[in-house]
Amino acid sequence: MDSILFVCLGNICRSPTAEAVIRAKAQAAGLTLEVDSAGTGNWHVGEPPYPPMIAAAARRGYDLSPLRARQVEAADFTRFDTVLVMDHANLRAAEAIRGGLRTRPELFLPFCHQGAERVTELPDPYYTRDFDQVLDLVEAAADALIARIRREAENPSGGQN
Ligand code: 4NP
Repeated sequence: MDSILFVCLGNICRSPTAEAVIRAKAQAAGLTLEVDSAGTGNWHVGEPPYPPMIAAAARRGYDLSPLRARQVEAADFTRFDTVLVMDHANLRAAEAIRGGLRTRPELFLPFCHQGAERVTELPDPYYTRDFDQVLDLVEAAADALIARIRREAENPSGGQN
């Protein structure tokens, strides 16, 4: 796994948070990983993340402020080897944009926890207003994902995916 694209609806709450958290944890672990995020919708293209999301992330040491929203495009499904999507509706939207291209999008939380997590969707804080819930779930998923990438790096033949 060399490159991950995180996908949500607006690219102003969930996926930029995942991008920043994974980037920070990969860097701390000494891993080289390309990370980016995008939205299936176009309402917020060019905008920074949602201010309450920026504030909640900043309280945990993640700087979302330089990020700018963009929309998912077909080329993302050849550019990234892993595309992780925050909920089922956006997974269907991502599949439609992917067409027959290389990388099949997968649900973020089940992918990171390898199916061992009860929650399959990352709740949208634009509606729930629970920005700390997003950070709690993303940080736990990111820890699981980083541990798995490290295992695969140490044991390339035994790794899956
Ligand atoms: P996100 O949250 O998909 O986590 O970035 C949303 C942000 C904006 C909208 C919906 C969800 N919106 O409808 O504008």
